[in-house]
Amino acid sequence: MRHFDMQSPVLAIESSCDETAAAILRPPGQILSSLVASQAEEHARFGGVVPEVASRNHLLAVDPLVRRALDSAGISASDLGAVAATSGPGLAPALLVGASYAKGFSLALGIPYLALNHLEGHLLSPFLGEEEIPHHIALLVSGGHTQLTEVRKVGSYEVLGRTLDDAAGEAFDKVAKLMGLPYPGGVEIDRLAIQGDSKKYEFPRALMERGNLDFSFSGLKTSVRYFLEKNPELAKSSQGLADLCASVRHAIVAVLLKKTARAVETSGLSRVAVSGGVAANQALRFGLQELCAAKGWNLHLPSPELTTDNAAMMAFAAIHHLRLGKSSPLGLEISPQWRVGNRP
Ligand code: KG4
Ligand code: ZN
Repeated sequence: MRHFDMQSPVLAIESSCDETAAAILRPPGQILSSLVASQAEEHARFGGVVPEVASRNHLLAVDPLVRRALDSAGISASDLGAVAATSGPGLAPALLVGASYAKGFSLALGIPYLALNHLEGHLLSPFLGEEEIPHHIALLVSGGHTQLTEVRKVGSYEVLGRTLDDAAGEAFDKVAKLMGLPYPGGVEIDRLAIQGDSKKYEFPRALMERGNLDFSFSGLKTSVRYFLEKNPELAKSSQGLADLCASVRHAIVAVLLKKTARAVETSGLSRVAVSGGVAANQALRFGLQELCAAKGWNLHLPSPELTTDNAAMMAFAAIHHLRLGKSSPLGLEISPQWRVGNRP
């Protein structure tokens, strides 16, 4: 097995949920190619992701996707210096496909294999291309996770607060489903909210008491359910729907902003990064820009295509670990419950 030579391109494969993604980056962070094959349509008719359906689709998609990624990067497999894959957290049958494929690649080419943490991929995504990851507070808001983390450096993470029930993206998706909007609903709510009045309806904000850095969104979902039962005609009018979307978005974003501000103030740091699918939300992006400008904090936002699941962020995380001399044994299991802060 060759050692990673610090210059060769790295291939990363991401298959933790319903997106098969492959990306090739040249260190420290030049994206040579980054492709995503979404299965969202396949799952839309079930109203959520079905693990076995995801697994079968990853199996169909992964090899052609990697070949296309190599083509569009203009390199051949033998030019690669390492291959990495998301090993957790995520759906076990989905993770197995990407990890097994990457191990096969590593074995065939005699290059290092590296197991990656999906959350770490999101956490580092706002810094893609940078050689150093600065000490900062990170808000990670995706479909599966919502957490505030103190990032000291690559591999040194302290979770300060996390959701006790639904993730922010999950809350958006579940509320959207109640309104009859298509999956994934976060994007739809964000789009429809543009025409709405965010102050029209008040929805609950949980765990706002002093010092609390955890989140809870299940009360909001229940409250929207009762509201729709009482006002069934509302979601049928376009203005009613827009006002509802704007009000729900406002309630979720207000909590995210408040807790992020609290975490930064408590830490004494002045640098904030935001990642995950919900980091594409227009109200959240705008709110963070306003907050950070008012407080004089540095804000790191990933470009919109790096917010939702992708493999470029995973390859970037891989490069940072490979530079530290890390690799994983081919016998390593996947880790569907892997949290940030410790290696499996
Ligand atoms: O990071 P991601 O692609 O997958 C996970 O790792 O979970 O995040 C997907 C989530 C979905 O819940 C989706 O509804 C949400 O991100 N999302 C948004 C927006 N774009 C994606 N939520 C609110 N506003 C958006 N613009
Ligand atoms: Zn994700």
